[in-house]
Amino acid sequence: MSRNCAIILAAGKGSRMGESINKQYLEIKKHPILYYTLKAFSQSNCIHEIIVVVAEGEMDYCKEEIINKYNFLKVKDVVVGGKERQHSVLNGLKAVSDCEIVLIHDGARPFINESIIRSAVMYANLYGATACGVRPKDTIKIVDPLGFSMKTPDRERLFCVQTPQAFKYDLILKCHKKISEEGIMVTDDTMVVERYGNKVYLYEGSYNNIKITTPEDLEMGKQILERTPS
Ligand code: CTP
Ligand code: MG
Repeated sequence: MSRNCAIILAAGKGSRMGESINKQYLEIKKHPILYYTLKAFSQSNCIHEIIVVVAEGEMDYCKEEIINKYNFLKVKDVVVGGKERQHSVLNGLKAVSDCEIVLIHDGARPFINESIIRSAVMYANLYGATACGVRPKDTIKIVDPLGFSMKTPDRERLFCVQTPQAFKYDLILKCHKKISEEGIMVTDDTMVVERYGNKVYLYEGSYNNIKITTPEDLEMGKQILERTPS
């Protein structure tokens, strides 16, 4: 099997959550969100090491309240993130040691499961770059600047991308360094490799693999936890 590393991103501000603490440290059913995320990757046999990327000033809190408290031994390093998500990813990538495949995952997606993690490793080995996601349930419109509908793309061809996104390590590191030199901003890591002509294989994730972004998501998260056996 390849050696696989997971980079867990927890260095955002959580501004849309509107709470005084970073959303990753808010609790759902008595445990912080980041605990559930780290638990899933720690328990997975195909993950050999974990790098956690935290916000400046939150390093001690994250180590004490989560990594040490819950004894997540696979966490090899905790590094500080950057201003935008892609800066945080690059910092995480630089901390990876001796891995062929890297999975990049939002700390704010705690309902990730073993089967999605396994598929990420398998498809990254096969195709070099992969991401999970789901088909949109709604009809999606392209909107013009005045708020009128311009176009309706065929729903069968649309895909809502989630994380994990997994890559051969050399490929993603090379592309991240290049895009950083070019100063181009992107919203996820699939765009980083696509920019340099690489194809990304998309596979089915889960509608439960939501990103906790706004207060309603906490409520939904609680319901998802109640439905899924731990
Ligand atoms: N993230 C990060 N570093 C950043 C920005 C985001 O590590 N500079 C992480 C977040 O911690 C989160 C994931 O990337 O786990 C997805 O980002 P998002 O949901 O947008 O989180 P935030 O940026 O924290 O939230 P908001 O945009 O509402 O401020
Ligand atoms: Mg953000």
